[in-house]
Amino acid sequence: MQFRDLKKQYEAIKDDIDKAVSSVINDSNFILGSQVKELEDKLASYVGRKHCITCANGTDALVLALMVMGVKKNDAVFVSDFTYIASASSISFVGATPIFVDIDLDTFNISPKSLETAIEKVKSEGKYNPKAIIPVDLFGLPANYDEILKIAKKYNLKVIEDAAQGFGGKINNKMACSFGDISCTSFFPAKPLGCYGDGGAIFTDDDSIKDALLSLRSNGKSPIDKYDNIMIGMNSRLDTLQAAILLQKFNAFVEYELEAVNKVYSWYNELLKDKFKTPMIPEGYYSSFAQYTILCKNEEERDGLKDKLKSNNIPSMVYYPRGMHEQKCFKDLDKISLDYKNSIEATKRVLSLPMHPYLTKEDVETVCKVILN
Ligand SMILES: Cc1ncc(COP(=O)(O)O)c(C=O)c1O
Repeated sequence: MQFRDLKKQYEAIKDDIDKAVSSVINDSNFILGSQVKELEDKLASYVGRKHCITCANGTDALVLALMVMGVKKNDAVFVSDFTYIASASSISFVGATPIFVDIDLDTFNISPKSLETAIEKVKSEGKYNPKAIIPVDLFGLPANYDEILKIAKKYNLKVIEDAAQGFGGKINNKMACSFGDISCTSFFPAKPLGCYGDGGAIFTDDDSIKDALLSLRSNGKSPIDKYDNIMIGMNSRLDTLQAAILLQKFNAFVEYELEAVNKVYSWYNELLKDKFKTPMIPEGYYSSFAQYTILCKNEEERDGLKDKLKSNNIPSMVYYPRGMHEQKCFKDLDKISLDYKNSIEATKRVLSLPMHPYLTKEDVETVCKVILN
């Protein structure tokens, strides 16, 4: 069994993918070919935003978003403590200071209450200028934007949505990638919508931000003269090949894959809910299930289950074994003293099980049998 079965997915849409790839090679328009803009228009319309600007990966998407929002040295950016490193390292990359915030254990997403405590603390210490929040739509579930957006307004902070894992999720009818002042996603192969390499995208409704991002992703070029460089930028474009692949995968994603992962979620929940804390999807929320993550009683039970699954050839993962505040790369960071009780708890008790749209009910039963035995 695969943790995320990309081969099965390829088999399901092989003809379309093969045609799309050979068409790009025949045209040999490898950089910013027409498929890139076609994909950007499709994705922007899907998530309900005016602009989508693709780039080389989700990490660059965050860095470009921070750059274009003018985040810089002495600025504080509030980010979930329990996430993939790029949510936080992107902040340090632009010279600002990440402030790690505890999570809600029910959703694994940033806790609005802890967020407000952190903002107040940074304000009262007066060393950094509170500038932005990076809420992460972890494991496919949108963060609590109702509360986060209220807090952002109260403290005049920008919201940079990290929907690297959250593409396809929604709250009522509002899609992930439409919640932030600017929103970012990743097309890493294992993501809900993944390509066959690295890829990412940024979403905005603001025309001038869109123009600045088009320049920043192409080494700061001017819109009229490629060799007149008006900003210090990066080389961060989505390859035409990846865009062509994503156009095909996007069809499968909206037509049946999203629905399929939600079915897998309900099969797992039904079998595991009495023994474990299974994923909690708040009323009105919809997850794109980048991961299906259970919460075990304690570290011992979690590690035991992981070993048992492994000896039955079933892969599982610990996302994530340590919080941002424990990462070595942040050891010299000037941290303010905040509580990470839930984040630490999660690192000890989480276990992510195989999750993808091509799992059958029998596959789920096989996993659960090992777990429950
Ligand atoms: C929450 C989160 N943010 C950012 C990223 C970075 O995306 P990429 O790997 O495409 O650079 C990832 C990817 O794993 C992620 O999970």
